[in-house]
Amino acid sequence: MLFNDGGAYETSMGTWSRLVGDVFIDWLQVARDLKWLDVGCGNGAFSGLISNSCFPKQVVAIDPSSEQIDFARTRSDATDVNFRVGNAMSIEEDDNTFDLAVMALVIFFVPDPPKGVSEMVRVVKKGGLVTSYTWDTLNKGSPSSLITGHLIDMGFKPDSLPNPQVSEMAALNKLWTEAGIIDLKSDVITVERRFRDVDEYWDISCLFPNIQKIVPNLTPDHVIDLKTRIEEDLTVGDDGMLYQTAKANAIMGTVT
Ligand SMILES: C[S@@+](CC[C@H](N)C(=O)[O-])C[C@H]1O[C@@H](n2cnc3c(N)ncnc32)[C@H](O)[C@@H]1O
Repeated sequence: MLFNDGGAYETSMGTWSRLVGDVFIDWLQVARDLKWLDVGCGNGAFSGLISNSCFPKQVVAIDPSSEQIDFARTRSDATDVNFRVGNAMSIEEDDNTFDLAVMALVIFFVPDPPKGVSEMVRVVKKGGLVTSYTWDTLNKGSPSSLITGHLIDMGFKPDSLPNPQVSEMAALNKLWTEAGIIDLKSDVITVERRFRDVDEYWDISCLFPNIQKIVPNLTPDHVIDLKTRIEEDLTVGDDGMLYQTAKANAIMGTVT
């Protein structure tokens, strides 16, 4: 098991993504000067990590959302990344182009995960890597699982992911094996984050897209009830802060 305790105290929503991304990059241990494809780059947080930690030769990063790509292009930590609108289901790149393709917290959003993996295999050179990490949502590993669990108990119906089943380790190994990828390595990444109090926890966590949609339907009493439930579940540290852990499953393998 790989572990990151969060280091410095931070507040932004992308912190979860960066905590897990840092551990994942250490785990990958890849060479310098590689051509990377970041599939489902979103706002470019993970692309920035590649750019700053992996000494890449080139990074192409794609996402179907033009708004996210527009934002990513403004990042000061990813100025050398080539951000483009694109879809995992049909990657607009030639065969055998990249040394490595990665999906960071993405595969459970892809409508047809085997197709998405086969597209990464197609654009990666023989001997290159196809890799992914994803919150273990089915086993309550996602940072949003705590709130969504309580919302469901309170009678709300938060949106679920299109393909949550592919977040489990066994499903990832099956997907990679069936795509003909060899020399598989997988691991669980555990990250821990701390919050000043339950109000800060709520302010950050209600920004998850599936929770954000429900917030307008919550009365002040609902929010008080929710915060009470959440506070009971979070661990209080010796420093008096509230701690939450999340778990992601990571996999990598070689294209033949
Ligand atoms: C949780 S975000 C992850 C963003 C980024 N990779 C990170 O780690 O911070 C999931 C991203 O998957 C993208 N996504 C959803 N469906 C996709 C698809 N079919 N192909 C590529 N990306 C997709 C979304 O637009 C969103 O930006």
